Amino acid sequence: MSFNFLNQNIKPIDPKKVAQLVLPDGTHMQQAAMGTFHSDNPDLIDNMEDIIVESIRLGYRHLDCATAYQNEAVVGRATDKAIKLGLVKRDELFMLSKLWNKHMNPADVIPACEASLKQLQLDYLDMYVVHWPWPNDHPPGCDGDAINPDAVPYIHEMFMEVWEKMTKLKKSGKVKNIGTSNQTQKTMELLLRDTNDFNHPVYNQMELHPLFQQKKLVKYFIDNKVVPSGYMSLGSPRRPGRDRFAEHQADMQHPVIQRLAKETGMTPPAICLAWAHQRENNKVGYVSMAERSEWIKFNLEAATKNVLTTEQMIAIEGDGTHENPGINTNNRLIWGQVFFWPEARVLGHDRDVLWNDRQIFESKADFARFRKAVGEFYKVWKETAVDLPVNYL
Ligand SMILES: NC(=O)c1ccc[n+]([C@@H]2O[C@H](COP(=O)([O-])OP(=O)(O)OC[C@H]3O[C@@H](n4cnc5c(N)ncnc54)[C@H](OP(=O)(O)O)[C@@H]3O)[C@@H](O)[C@H]2O)c1
Repeated sequence: MSFNFLNQNIKPIDPKKVAQLVLPDGTHMQQAAMGTFHSDNPDLIDNMEDIIVESIRLGYRHLDCATAYQNEAVVGRATDKAIKLGLVKRDELFMLSKLWNKHMNPADVIPACEASLKQLQLDYLDMYVVHWPWPNDHPPGCDGDAINPDAVPYIHEMFMEVWEKMTKLKKSGKVKNIGTSNQTQKTMELLLRDTNDFNHPVYNQMELHPLFQQKKLVKYFIDNKVVPSGYMSLGSPRRPGRDRFAEHQADMQHPVIQRLAKETGMTPPAICLAWAHQRENNKVGYVSMAERSEWIKFNLEAATKNVLTTEQMIAIEGDGTHENPGINTNNRLIWGQVFFWPEARVLGHDRDVLWNDRQIFESKADFARFRKAVGEFYKVWKETAVDLPVNYL
């Protein structure tokens, strides 16, 4: 059984009152985006079309979609309906979609984008983003620790072959802007090194919430004209099981978030989103997802005004002193272990290997040498060790 929590009596927000982020070409996009990932939640799957129409009615103009969410056709029906109902015009919407890992090879990029356009019932996308930095795919519902033998780490040469097609999409006008998601500083440095004013990535979507602030990386993107935008802004309480670990903390339950909520008369989610809105002088986007009208509106409204004082922002972010350390605990929710490649743990249990840049390669030939050497290393280890503790390969 699924439930519908939409309420047409709730008054919309004037979209003009919502903070805008400006891309290098002058395009404006709402700072707050409506997420469309359903986290495999049946209520959301059944009601997604109505939820998207409702989010547009309530004032959202920026929709965050992806092939991986397996619902672009639903979003397409919803936006078409919203346009026909007169709630919005196409050119008022900022439609973002993402290239899925499975299509991260030169032959598939343009057809994958065209398929997204068709499903979304659009002539162009406002932003097309490479979802993850590698082509590693995993079957739906697979075990969180499953390793695909074809998976590889970040290989810059492979990424640039994909980026060349992203550039073509921009040249063709099917896509107005191109960006990335889940890049590290090193992978972005390589991309910026090899792009120009025309095909420079202008956006990077990344995990950001009060307990996982990624301040240095966010600053790096801003300094390099890449607009950062945060996902899981509320700490993603309904994230899938593969992204849940015993040591995880809940942002909304953190004592400082709770204290600030009491002090301001606001709620813990309001504090999380106020921080998302105000951080770095309102220069960072945020994506959130909700299925009830009250929360959809509430999440958008957070981008209409600054409500936290400097002291309250410091309580969350710190000011670099011991007295005010802030609450960032590097509470990363997505480790992405389903994307690991066979050699990912060659240096031991390196859970951070997707994010710490220890295994990124310039060329396919470099990685082939590394893969061969690791294979030989394990062969000798297996042949010589008295008791090999873990069967890695
Ligand atoms: N680029 C990437 O790799 C990537 C990865 C993950 C996510 N994303 C994007 O980011 C979006 C948001 O991520 P997310 O949904 O995991 O995280 P989230 O927005 O942090 O969390 C959404 C959850 O919080 C609850 N919630 C929403 N508004 C609330 C409010 N005002 N008060 C209390 N609870 C509230 C919702 O509950 P109800 O369901 O009950 O409404 C929902 O379960 C996704 O939909 C997707 O578009 C991108």
